[in-house]
Amino acid sequence: MFDFIHITDLHILPPGRTNYGLDPTERLRMAVESIAERHGPESTAPAEFVIVTGDLTHHGQPEAFAQLRDILEGLPMPFHLMLGNHDDRDNFRAVFPDQGFDENGFVQQAIETDAGLFLLLDTKAPGSHAGELCEKRLGWLAARLAESQGPAFLFLHHPPMAVGITRMDRIQMAHAAELAAVLAPHKGRIRHMFHGHLHRPLAGSWMGIPFSSIRGTSHQVALDLSERETVPGSHEPPAYALIRVTDDAVIVHAHDFLDQTGTFDL
Ligand SMILES: [Fe+2]
Repeated sequence: MFDFIHITDLHILPPGRTNYGLDPTERLRMAVESIAERHGPESTAPAEFVIVTGDLTHHGQPEAFAQLRDILEGLPMPFHLMLGNHDDRDNFRAVFPDQGFDENGFVQQAIETDAGLFLLLDTKAPGSHAGELCEKRLGWLAARLAESQGPAFLFLHHPPMAVGITRMDRIQMAHAAELAAVLAPHKGRIRHMFHGHLHRPLAGSWMGIPFSSIRGTSHQVALDLSERETVPGSHEPPAYALIRVTDDAVIVHAHDFLDQTGTFDL
């Protein structure tokens, strides 16, 4: 059994700034408190680490990354950060020089775990909200898969498939076919793909690979499958996910960390 936490779309701003009426910093602080209490080393379900699938910040400013670093220091377990379309690679590296980078400077890393190989990809395309995986990044992925055996788990900010939310589908990951080609020889080994970007709880399969995502820790995207030309925002509750990997299953538990309704003996 291997437990870890997936959080996404934090959209952190410099101190004192709000986003669509919400304080993303305060919300992340509450998520960190909840994770520390429920999944810290002394808890009943300790998590090995936290993986954050991008949109760490809203505008990518150095002050926002510094704010993020201060909040994440409250986590009692390691954390691995990834970039989204709202982030800035250079500003990220200046504040988090010890995070994982590949030989080309992309925020990509392979983490060996007791559950298998975790492959964290960088789909950031400078100047665009859509995602990309260039030949260098895909080459890195192909090499990591070729040199390894056993189960692998993929993480990327932009999903490689359309989901029916018009404006978000226009900014999905642009190189789905190229990614599929790299994964094809290894398909039986890819146990799950985790993404962000959509600010929604979502699960399904793409090219036979199971995937999931969850709501952001800040604002959300509404379920609106019309031809609407803007991103449909919403203030549905924020969440993080506790992922439990066992020999025969990958379980995704979403947790609405602001929920105050309490529990009772049913
Ligand atoms: Fe986002």
